[in-house]
Amino acid sequence: MSSQEKLPWPVTKKRKSKKEIPEDSQECNSKRVKVTANATRDLLIATRSAFSRSADPARMVGREMEHAEITKFLQTAISDHVSGRLYIAGSPGTGKTALVHTVCRELKLKDIEGLQIVEINCNTIQPKNLYFELVKKLSGMEIKKRVNAQREFESLLKNNDKGDDNNSSVVVMDEVDNLFEKDSNLIYSLFEYSALADGKMTLIAIANEINLDKRLLSRLSAKNVTVESLTFKSYKPSEISAIIDDRLKSVAINGENLLIESQAVELCARKVASEGGDARQAMELCMLALQNLDNKDHHGKNDEIGKVTLTEMSKILSNAFVTNKTVQRLRELSIHQQAMLCSLILMRRNGNTSTTQAKLFTFYRGLCKKHSAPLINQAQFPDLVTACESIGLLKFGRAKRNEDRKIITDILESDLREAIKDVPHVKNFLK
Ligand SMILES: Nc1ncnc2c1ncn2[C@@H]1O[C@H](COP(=O)(O)OP(=O)(O)OP(=O)(O)O)[C@@H](O)[C@H]1O
Ligand SMILES: [Mg+2]
Repeated sequence: MSSQEKLPWPVTKKRKSKKEIPEDSQECNSKRVKVTANATRDLLIATRSAFSRSADPARMVGREMEHAEITKFLQTAISDHVSGRLYIAGSPGTGKTALVHTVCRELKLKDIEGLQIVEINCNTIQPKNLYFELVKKLSGMEIKKRVNAQREFESLLKNNDKGDDNNSSVVVMDEVDNLFEKDSNLIYSLFEYSALADGKMTLIAIANEINLDKRLLSRLSAKNVTVESLTFKSYKPSEISAIIDDRLKSVAINGENLLIESQAVELCARKVASEGGDARQAMELCMLALQNLDNKDHHGKNDEIGKVTLTEMSKILSNAFVTNKTVQRLRELSIHQQAMLCSLILMRRNGNTSTTQAKLFTFYRGLCKKHSAPLINQAQFPDLVTACESIGLLKFGRAKRNEDRKIITDILESDLREAIKDVPHVKNFLK
């Protein structure tokens, strides 16, 4: 029996797309398949979007044991009316957020009366707004005076206590490391509230740090507040390959992966696993490989579809992992250049692998305004872009007018994130 069959609530099966065919008829890498130029373009767009970072995985590949553990933890808390506390840890890109989100989605489909599920990303929230956000999400109420938010939250838990016994909530706090750095008391209080909530508030905290902070643990155990923990191990090569294959399969034509040779997938998976097993990085490398294919395809004359070969993937990997120099170069840029590159990367993350100067400027302006960061005006923008091109951080496509030139970059998001991590104004741009 698979772990999924043991689930206490029905799991929604991904609807089979017309293009999907059984696994045993997959893969025929040596063949080159004739499709029309339009179909090539559509396939490239669909595949890039399948690899784009924001893509919620239609389904998780592997992680059955972790899926079953989180499900069991929630099932016990809900059916036995006890408030559980679970601390999930693991290095970046190991599927923590995606899996917890998947389990929550399954739980929501169960439509359990009186159960609320709230997911909060601590990266996007100021500590002073945490209770405000919690009350808003739990009660649907807007609170005018933020100073009262913590009191509102407490009374919400108390009211739940006295009121309908069926009322309970599951609160998922993602990226708690970030909040912990800013205000460790907040995390401590949330665990404590959950312990006092008498079955009304189950808490899942997700972080990169494998161990809960020792001081926090000793404070909690002094109050008999227990916390279960679950660690997500970094992915092995075979697991990364399976994730990439699954994405390719989701857009395959006649069940055939047309765009990345299986040896190239394997090479990428092995390299990523040896560098920490970050599935997000694997997705990004595949996006870069497809971006190159896309650009080659612009100049292609025929309707035969190309594939990312082992050699091409190998080039992408060696560029990507000779990164210390890149990170160093990115660090030396002005914050406006860093902001512009963040915009380009975010646009790429959304599936736009090439853009024009005007579109990039619009995105850049919106991003800077959103983060209240200083920005330069449209007249100064071309110089900024050209300066980055001259040091090889981005490339221009060919066009009659400069404004129409496509702009692309093959720098890795992880490099840029590393370079800007301590830079005021821009450090949160890629979060
Ligand atoms: N097992 C998997 N199956 C399918 N996709 C996966 C799997 N694991 C990770 N991914 C994909 O990899 C990307 C990163 O996953 P996720 O955001 O869940 O990582 P994380 O562990 O939360 O990382 P971080 O610590 O940086 O927040 C997502 O796009 C997700 O869809
Ligand atoms: Mg995460």
